[in-house]
Amino acid sequence: MNNLFSFAEQCLFEADIEQKLAITRQAGQLLVEKNLSFQDAGQILPIARTLFPARPQLRMPRDMPRRRLDSAAGKAAFFHALAHIEFVAIYLAWDILYRFRGLPEDFYRDWLRIAAEEAEHFSLIRRHLLRFGVDYGDLPAHAGLWSHAEDTAIDVLARLAIVPRCMEARGLDVTPGMMDRLRRADDQAGVDILARIYQDEIGHVERGSYWFNYLARQRGLEPEQKYKELILEFYQGKPKGPFNREMRIIAGFSNNEIDWLEACLHE
Ligand SMILES: [Fe+2]
Repeated sequence: MNNLFSFAEQCLFEADIEQKLAITRQAGQLLVEKNLSFQDAGQILPIARTLFPARPQLRMPRDMPRRRLDSAAGKAAFFHALAHIEFVAIYLAWDILYRFRGLPEDFYRDWLRIAAEEAEHFSLIRRHLLRFGVDYGDLPAHAGLWSHAEDTAIDVLARLAIVPRCMEARGLDVTPGMMDRLRRADDQAGVDILARIYQDEIGHVERGSYWFNYLARQRGLEPEQKYKELILEFYQGKPKGPFNREMRIIAGFSNNEIDWLEACLHE
């Protein structure tokens, strides 16, 4: 097997965690070796058929326990939540390249590289979590993340606006604060993992911005205007701030877009 979309199908429609990590690694390796086929084959299965493992049990955010970092249990809950975000991020990267066809080959290369990085992030956090005697799946997790993918399954521009350029961009705002909290809680290994992930996430959001702008222009649309429209249409609730302007600019946001997001906070 060397077809990108067959790999994607195995990742999205089978629940097994180990197999998902192995397939993602294998596809990433074939990409590096230039042995991966991008031949568009077969039908695209509906997003509703995406399969997640039986555990973790998914709960609404309001039913999740608060995470304080002053105990091992609190740290375990914190890293379990992060592991879940990275786990869903593997699906998000695979789904964007699986669902939207006929785009430049570089689009598929970028998102496969991102899927492979998300799988690494997940493995790093899971290993750290195991130090607290907890494995991924042992605790409940946030049910909401995947709903943004389902809501935007019909349009790649909506997906790019909402997933990399809204949800993942939020990670650029909040991660430095998380690293401070971990530092104060004396978890240097945790800080190092977050620092590594942070670097990669800047690149993921940047690819989101790049492809958003590219594909909007290709449709004859003005990217900044389209971004605002899509956020208003698809993002439930207002965007959350404060925004990390410096990092968002590096990740391909324009000053206009960030000004607009900030103005939304005060409406
Ligand atoms: Fe990640």
